[in-house]
Amino acid sequence: MMTDQTKIKKCLFPAAGYGTRFLPATKAIPKEMLPVLTKPLLQYGVEEAIEAGLDTMAIVTGRGKRAIEDHFDISYELEHQIKGTSKESYLTEIRRVINACTFSYTRQTEMKGLGHAILTGETLIGDEPFAVLLADDLCDNDAKGVLAQMVELYNEYRCSIVAVEEVPKEETNKYGVIAGKVLHDKLIQVDNMVEKPEPKDAPSNLAIIGRYILTPDIFDILRETKPGRGGEIQITDALLQQAKQGKVLAYKFDGRRFDCGSVDGFVEATNYFYQKG
Ligand code: G1P
Repeated sequence: MMTDQTKIKKCLFPAAGYGTRFLPATKAIPKEMLPVLTKPLLQYGVEEAIEAGLDTMAIVTGRGKRAIEDHFDISYELEHQIKGTSKESYLTEIRRVINACTFSYTRQTEMKGLGHAILTGETLIGDEPFAVLLADDLCDNDAKGVLAQMVELYNEYRCSIVAVEEVPKEETNKYGVIAGKVLHDKLIQVDNMVEKPEPKDAPSNLAIIGRYILTPDIFDILRETKPGRGGEIQITDALLQQAKQGKVLAYKFDGRRFDCGSVDGFVEATNYFYQKG
């Protein structure tokens, strides 16, 4: 069967980081498996990707991340134990996820930055456009999810897209920051982007959050990208090369985003989803 290489089917999840901000919780548990209520962060991400019509989840893991693979697999003992009991319903959602897509894994053996993690995923992606989702940016929208909004935009514009939101100016050094030409109130054609600039050097207060659509030429660019901020290979630097050719859009998404890479954001997300019911 021919696959339609113009359609986005795959989502890459960089999940090799150590999660040091959540120690000791993350000593033996991957940070992507920390639950907001009863669901691990990564499952929220996978569900967002499925909702966007994606069916292939490509996960870049590292040492000590086996719990991720076990989570997206059948647990026969558990299924057998609770079959026919009232507890069976607790597994309905994860079963649906497992049935809706396939999972493939590769390991990043050295932590050399987000750009390097994405390049490590090339073997799972191949020569087609794809999405990238950072599970510690947890997004919620009552209507269409953030990735679904971006896939729709991709189908119209056929270029790389980053999701952005306004952040307080003093926080620009936590994000990739973009600037460019406003196409309409939600869309900007990017002509500059800087990884974690100090407020005085930031080109704007529009911060990239962990949702990307990337065209596959990004892999060749990443191979040539020198270490940048923090001595790491940055996706922001690679995207700047595409932006210089007018091929990157920044999208002010509809919805809320929680920075679950920080304790404050994590608690905020937990309260939000608890109240939402
Ligand atoms: C990464 C990116 C950064 C982006 C952020 C979104 O940084 O390098 O450009 O703004 O994700 O969460 P990290 O948070 O991994 O340091």
